[in-house]
Amino acid sequence: MLSVALLSLAGLVAAQNTGDPIVYDTQHNVTSLYGTWATGSGGVQTGSGFANPSEMTFTYPKTTGWSVSFSSDYYFEWAQYTFVSNGSDPSCITGYVFWTHGQFTENENGSLTMSPFGDGYQQVQDACGAESNVLENTNQSIYVPWWNIAQDTTDGYLLKLQKYDQTYYPPFKQISTTPNMLPTRQLREVTLGSDVTVAQSKRDLVEEETLEKRNAAPAGAAPAVVGGLAYAGAAAVAALGMLTI
Ligand SMILES: *[C@@H]1O[C@H](CO)[C@@H](O)[C@H](O)[C@H]1NC(C)=O
Ligand SMILES: *[C@@H]1O[C@H](CO)[C@@H](O)[C@H](O)[C@H]1NC(C)=O
Ligand SMILES: *[C@@H]1O[C@H](CO)[C@@H](O)[C@H](O)[C@H]1NC(C)=O
Ligand SMILES: *[C@@H]1O[C@H](CO)[C@@H](O)[C@H](O)[C@H]1NC(C)=O
Repeated sequence: MLSVALLSLAGLVAAQNTGDPIVYDTQHNVTSLYGTWATGSGGVQTGSGFANPSEMTFTYPKTTGWSVSFSSDYYFEWAQYTFVSNGSDPSCITGYVFWTHGQFTENENGSLTMSPFGDGYQQVQDACGAESNVLENTNQSIYVPWWNIAQDTTDGYLLKLQKYDQTYYPPFKQISTTPNMLPTRQLREVTLGSDVTVAQSKRDLVEEETLEKRNAAPAGAAPAVVGGLAYAGAAAVAALGMLTI
């Protein structure tokens, strides 16, 4: 019995790696994608608490992470608040805040394609970059080559999403079975192509003078509030890995 289950799981993984049609079975999706999902402690969540598109602003969560919602009529929303440190220069921290929404398709080969409406935006702050803090429009789509939902005895349903480079996001816990999303239509006027870049935006994600403090912060220390931003400490940054969406 066990070996049969393992074999079918191995077969499933192999099938998905070769781009064969996805098999919706109990291994693959023990529940449906629909609802709201969030990594870690769930500090980052889609919906009205994260992004205000009409103002092109963010409410910075207390903790970092990713969140995604999917509706049964194929709309999605994505929220991301992450920091990464530069491997060759650990004091060079890049803060990244990203919000987008649009429509998604479940492709036959098991991948997901999230195609935005065009009103998404991001803030990128590179403590060492020439353009240290930019807020800009982005219509970047999100491609997930493979996904899976498993049931964990303590965490409940866990959604695993693969990144375009075949690494994985941290597991997303199911926050609710109904998606918590902003209205599923374009929420602000955007002239894409003009690629508005607001250098030195109002909010400061990563302030130079606080880097020393951050790096000195012990792992698990209470987040320091930096220019309206809570920051979880250098250890958390190191754990986040590559800056990829
Ligand atoms: C899976 O399907 C999507 C959408 O059609 C396509 O873009 C992608 O290249 C396919 N992946 C593989 C491995 O065939
Ligand atoms: C798996 O999930 C997809 C998308 O959420 C849904 O369309 C499909 O019916 C599900 N299949 C099973 C067996 O639960
Ligand atoms: C890391 O820092 C080095 C030196 O400041 C810089 O040249 C490089 O571009 C940075 N890498 C990334 C990924 O930011
Ligand atoms: C944004 O990208 C999607 C494809 O991912 C495209 O369908 C849409 O037209 C784009 N929106 C704008 C405003 O360019």
